[in-house]
Amino acid sequence: MFSFFTRKESLLSTALLDGMTDIHAHLLPGVDDGVVTMEESIRTLTALARLGVRRMYLTSHVMDTTDTNYKALYQERFEELLSQKPADIELRLAAEYMLDMGFPVWRQEGLLAMNGRHVLVETSYMAPPPDLITLLYDLVLDGYNPIIAHPERYMYMVDSDYRDLKNKGCKLQLNLLSLSGHYGKRAEDMARILLKEGRYDHIGSDIHNWERYQKGIESIHIDKNEKKELTRLLENNHLVW
Ligand SMILES: [Fe+2]
Repeated sequence: MFSFFTRKESLLSTALLDGMTDIHAHLLPGVDDGVVTMEESIRTLTALARLGVRRMYLTSHVMDTTDTNYKALYQERFEELLSQKPADIELRLAAEYMLDMGFPVWRQEGLLAMNGRHVLVETSYMAPPPDLITLLYDLVLDGYNPIIAHPERYMYMVDSDYRDLKNKGCKLQLNLLSLSGHYGKRAEDMARILLKEGRYDHIGSDIHNWERYQKGIESIHIDKNEKKELTRLLENNHLVW
């Protein structure tokens, strides 16, 4: 639906999500704060396939409290999910790493990266780790390409931080639901500014739960320029598959 007064259209009335490659999702059951059961995972994937999603990296959380054996556990759960022949979405295993004290150990052991190269990372919402730049620098030195998840959500980040991260070779990933106000007004405003300024490189659902996600995407309205930018980000997503 097109609104004459706001000149915005509903996201779902566009074909934007048709053929989407999603690079951020918590649908591996029972390993983090995302979906809990195999049944919920399959039900959510089926709903996403109906929306047009075609490929998806499963990026469960990894942080310093995560079991040291996480790679084997995630792989096992991933194979179990594939064996259930879920919806018509191609799935691959990756992870979302918290940049905290535990991260250097995970890095030395080898990371669950997209295409073996692109690593999805996040920080605490309130404050950066004291050695953020070193953590990212070491990652790049190891040949990885850092993708910063949902930069619009970090309370401590200001304009110069986004610029610094980009200058240091990091890519920025927008959470789709930030445009719905799901994470609050500040995150939505920041997301729209960064989107308008063309600072993002990728987009992800960061889906944890189907009902919340559905409610969020149903409420998103975008203008012409935002639509153009989202199209570019969705095209970039295909490149990391
Ligand atoms: Fe996430």
